Amino acid sequence: MDRIAQELKIHQLANHKNVIQYKGHFFDTEGNLCIKLEKMTKTLETRIGEEAKTGEHFPEWKLWFYFIQLVRGVYYLNMANIIHMDIKADNILINDKTKELKLSDFGTSKKFEEGDPSICLPGTGLATPLTASPEMLSGKGFGRRNDTWALGCILY
Ligand SMILES: Nc1ncnc2c1ncn2[C@@H]1O[C@H](COP(=O)(O)OP(=O)(O)O)[C@@H](O)[C@H]1O
Ligand SMILES: [Mg+2]
Repeated sequence: MDRIAQELKIHQLANHKNVIQYKGHFFDTEGNLCIKLEKMTKTLETRIGEEAKTGEHFPEWKLWFYFIQLVRGVYYLNMANIIHMDIKADNILINDKTKELKLSDFGTSKKFEEGDPSICLPGTGLATPLTASPEMLSGKGFGRRNDTWALGCILY
């Protein structure tokens, strides 16, 4: 399955309050696939930048408030045999009004069938270097643990 089809399939399958909600899709006049998603306010990356500008840092309660939502979203995906593979602050969306956090961007994600041997195939992972696990960077393969590693990077 090509990457775009995989991305669309994962959006259609995922149904959890901490994962961005799929609203439908269409093809534009040039034949490009457009995926409609629920509207969020900003990325976690932007949110962290705003706090940094004011010279204030995330108070600990707020950090856990967001992080717990992120872990719930990642846990849901991983239990559904979906590995995100590019979890980073820029792919995490926030709704300023409801204070919800949702995981987004399945452009490099993969859905596995139970027992799929390719879950550990070496050299098949793609990710942002800052949050990629050592195994992924050294081409040893990837699995659910790569998403867990990225969670640690974000918390840090
Ligand atoms: N549902 C959404 N609501 C608000 N902004 C979004 C939403 N989805 C994506 N964005 C914005 O678009 C950017 C790029 O989207 P993303 O899905 O990460 O695609 P890619 O990183 O592959 O270009 C995000 O970093 C975010 O700023
Ligand atoms: Mg992205």
